[in-house]
Amino acid sequence: MTNGVIIQFNNVTKQYDNDPPVLKDVSFEIERGKFYTLLGPSGCGKTTILRLIAGFTEASEGEIFFNEKKINDIPANKRQVNTVFQDYALFPHLNVFENVAFGLRIKKLKNAEIEQKVREALSFVNLKGYETREIREMSGGQRQRVAIARAIVNEPEVILLDEPLSALDLKLRTEMQYELRELQRRLGITFIFVTHDQEEALAMSDEIFVIDKGKIQQSGTPTDIYDEPINRFVADFIGESNIVKGRMIADYRVEFVGKEFECVDQGLNENEPVEIVIRPEDMVITTLEHGKLQVRVDSQLFRGVHYEICCYDKDENEWLVHSTKKANVGDKIGLYFDAEAIHVMRHGETEEEFDRRLEAYTDVEPDGK
Ligand SMILES: Nc1ncnc2c1ncn2[C@@H]1O[C@H](COP(=O)(O)OP(=O)(O)O)[C@@H](O)[C@H]1O
Ligand SMILES: [Mg+2]
Repeated sequence: MTNGVIIQFNNVTKQYDNDPPVLKDVSFEIERGKFYTLLGPSGCGKTTILRLIAGFTEASEGEIFFNEKKINDIPANKRQVNTVFQDYALFPHLNVFENVAFGLRIKKLKNAEIEQKVREALSFVNLKGYETREIREMSGGQRQRVAIARAIVNEPEVILLDEPLSALDLKLRTEMQYELRELQRRLGITFIFVTHDQEEALAMSDEIFVIDKGKIQQSGTPTDIYDEPINRFVADFIGESNIVKGRMIADYRVEFVGKEFECVDQGLNENEPVEIVIRPEDMVITTLEHGKLQVRVDSQLFRGVHYEICCYDKDENEWLVHSTKKANVGDKIGLYFDAEAIHVMRHGETEEEFDRRLEAYTDVEPDGK
């Protein structure tokens, strides 16, 4: 375990009764002081991971470490972790001050100390002056901040946030995204944030774990994951993508839509069936002759910054293009893209297999030196 690691999962499986496991052999490391996001569709196991970290449920198999100490058998109230729940779970009969003070009163801190810590926590979340307000008098965004103040007042090493912004409207949610990110930087505490919203994850995180069906599909920085999705699920889930079937011809050569293209991928088998991802913003509209693909424009929408243009090739594959230039519906046009814009993905490849394949090739230069 490296120095900066605060939480580690080693081959953790979680299974309820005889149901299929909801987490399968999950391993990861969380480094101190960073903003992590668990991203995935509903039911993929995000909340289960938080509950395992918080100690609200037990792992069926595997080990969980906190500060290099195995914590599988440590009760929730002895862990240096606080959770902000989806519905905030505030006490409606207590005012703002008492909601935040609750945990400190249980710990039997002196009144003066409680007073000081609660005021500090409230000012951290910009709720100075709201101490005596009732919870029902607070707006959605303010309740959110009370819930966060209640977590940070305990000075935990890790804060777990389970879809805390999902109940807010879009404008408020965007504001709170900035606030939370800022707060995490100022506090320097490790945040583990859960969301099913990929834009939120990309905007907020140092590191993202993309989860599907109880497995981490890919982990990395937002740009890693956006630029180099390792499988179809990640490519599809993160941003808009064009995905078509293809075949690897040799290193740096791939075929799709009946044509050969130069690409930057290597280490796959000859003739191996693959999937090709090209992001809509990586395609440029050009003349038929200059295009690497020839397509017909089916429809277009103005999206404020760019046009979203939907095209079809001769095999009726759909190609989405983002362009600041307008196209004409019905026109035959060319689409140009660089070799780097073609992302080749092996069918169902896991992150570990992907890393191993890349490692095996790091010494080989593209021109065979
Ligand atoms: N107490 C439980 N008993 C049985 N199954 C559960 C329990 N809690 C969660 N699950 C199942 O585990 C899976 C993952 O749930 P969860 O971690 O809550 O997903 P997410 O937070 O990503 O939406 C779901 O299929 C859910 O139905
Ligand atoms: Mg959940």
